[in-house]
Amino acid sequence: PLNATMSDDGALALAGIDAAALVAEFGTPSYILDEEHFRARARVFIDSFTAAFAPLGASVDVYYAGKSFLSVAVARWAREEGLRVDTCTGGELAVALRAGVPGAEIGLHGNNKSDSEISRALEARVGRIVVDSFAEIDRVAAAARAAGRTGADPVPVMVRVTTGIHAGGHEFISTAHEDQKFGVSLAGGQALAALAAVLGHPELELLGAHTHIGSQIQDAHAFEINARKMLGLREDLRSTTGYLMPELDLGGGYGIAYTPEEIPIDVPSLALDLAGVVGQVCTELGTTVPRISIEPGRSIVGSTTVTLYTVGVVKPVTLEDGSVRVYVSVDGGMSDNIRPALYDARYTARLANRTGSAQTMRARVVGKHCESGDIVISDIALPADIAPGDLLAVPATGAYGRSMASNYNHVLRPPVVAVSGGRARVIVRRETEDDLLALDLG
Ligand code: LLP
Repeated sequence: PLNATMSDDGALALAGIDAAALVAEFGTPSYILDEEHFRARARVFIDSFTAAFAPLGASVDVYYAGKSFLSVAVARWAREEGLRVDTCTGGELAVALRAGVPGAEIGLHGNNKSDSEISRALEARVGRIVVDSFAEIDRVAAAARAAGRTGADPVPVMVRVTTGIHAGGHEFISTAHEDQKFGVSLAGGQALAALAAVLGHPELELLGAHTHIGSQIQDAHAFEINARKMLGLREDLRSTTGYLMPELDLGGGYGIAYTPEEIPIDVPSLALDLAGVVGQVCTELGTTVPRISIEPGRSIVGSTTVTLYTVGVVKPVTLEDGSVRVYVSVDGGMSDNIRPALYDARYTARLANRTGSAQTMRARVVGKHCESGDIVISDIALPADIAPGDLLAVPATGAYGRSMASNYNHVLRPPVVAVSGGRARVIVRRETEDDLLALDLG
């Protein structure tokens, strides 16, 4: 859990720093990120997966999924803790490179990579390009040849495979056919054909197959079934071509807790479950255990961050049934956290500057945008005496918060403030009106 403590007077301290002091220095809204917590989450993945797969003689690479939140500082911390970095656009690749992450430790995804993204990946000599379609296999191969890469110095690629397993929230489904844009389907031997197509290109080196089955998944079973399917594919390729893929990437998607009722996926037991399945299937098939890679994003950064807001207008609204709902407006909203509007995502909140009255009221926390769906928390009990100027802290906003932030209504995107060892430092500064206007050529 985030390193947050509450003093007797209700003041919230984040990684040892008083929320009110952070607000005095950095303003609101702000994302407050606990650096030590980020590092600890990174280590949990590395340590758990390494320990679980070591008895099988297999190594594990953990790629931090930069889409969840990427900045130069965060990419550096990830690297310092032994993570690699997964990018899915030229922009994310640029941040990872700016942070000094060696190309060999970066992966590039994307279902519609541009020519320039492919050539930048080749220039940076990324550790792997995850190809997403038959057409892209040919494009990457052509770009490789154009860059003078040959069989003596091939470009490492993986093929993204869709296994028919789709998971998220609390359930998963397994279907034979795919109706979505990512990857090449297992169905009808398509994935097998794509892998074989890569083998037909001497300028490409087939590292293995990649799969990602969804996000915010709480049920480890979905990952196990998926791993079985991928091992089956690896065996099919071996039996048809003689090529044994050295690596399988099992993706990310491990669920976290956004509210006290939710149970985060337990990473050490997930690692053991997966290692159990992989070991068992490989024994059954009489094959060596592949190198494994995974790509967690949310489960590393999600719980590291709290958004601090200042409360503005507090407005009781009488509903049709005569009851009252109090709309508590904060100074941000859907531009710094689109997830409630987009996915009906649930969050919790608490007063950060004082305890507040024991008596609570039924509240809805809303933002400042010109849109009625601009809701942070749809229904929450908050102290009845909440008032303008109070600070509200919303935890678990580290993943897909700042990374999906927008300038809707020309609202300025908040800074990311890293706290560590009792000190705070801005790692992504607050936008200014000059930043916005710099793009506007009049
Ligand atoms: N690898 C691949 C290929 C992915 O597509 C994703 C996420 C990840 C790794 C990281 O997944 P994670 O461990 O963070 O769940 N904006 C949505 C989430 C979209 C996830 C897309 N792909 C949200 O806010 O819930």
